[in-house]
Amino acid sequence: MAALAASRRRCRLPLYDFLAPRPARIWVRTAASASAQSEPASLPLTEEQRHFLDSALRVNQAGELAAVLIYQAQTPPVIRSHPHLRPLMQHMHDQEAGHFRLFNDLLAKHRVRPTVMYPVWRLAATALGWGTALMGREAAMACTEAVETEIGTHYNDQVRELLAWLRAMEARGERIGPELADLVATLRRIRDEELEHLDHALGNDSKHARPHELLTSVIRGGCRAAIRISERI
Ligand SMILES: [Fe+2]
Ligand SMILES: [Fe+2]
Repeated sequence: MAALAASRRRCRLPLYDFLAPRPARIWVRTAASASAQSEPASLPLTEEQRHFLDSALRVNQAGELAAVLIYQAQTPPVIRSHPHLRPLMQHMHDQEAGHFRLFNDLLAKHRVRPTVMYPVWRLAATALGWGTALMGREAAMACTEAVETEIGTHYNDQVRELLAWLRAMEARGERIGPELADLVATLRRIRDEELEHLDHALGNDSKHARPHELLTSVIRGGCRAAIRISERI
């Protein structure tokens, strides 16, 4: 009886499912709809939340495209002079390719348009990967260090924002839909993998790149600018 009562109480809680395909819907089980066994009512996302998710998915896809292209360009020169790095370069590339596929799928599912800067980022990322690899293994690793420092922070900011949403929902007694919970878990996993790349770069002498400060500052500045632009257009 107690379990049944708890289950009935749970059914009356609103269920938020932020990433339902557009038109974006938040499923809310109301007392009336639950008792009538009808389809749950739905509410739209707030404009601000929709905008945040659109921007987040768009910029993440652009960032992962750039990461794949950087590793694709870096790998041949780096492993030619340092063959022992082949498994590491392959591992990092494969993880980035997995991230890219994931955001491609999310963009298609939620009908978010890619950034209009897509062709520009393709060229810039390839040039960055190729240029740093030609400067040597340390410079290639300094590129990863710089990029992953910015990207790790970027994913952390998104996770923090989404966790604030979840806390607010829980405080209002609302249930969190599986897609939103999955998104938070996915962003956390990807952030951890980016930070793992950062550790690999540091462990492979990224700090010995010359000139390390200048190189990483320029790349980090470029990343921040690309993120801001991709969020908007
Ligand atoms: Fe990635
Ligand atoms: Fe990465």
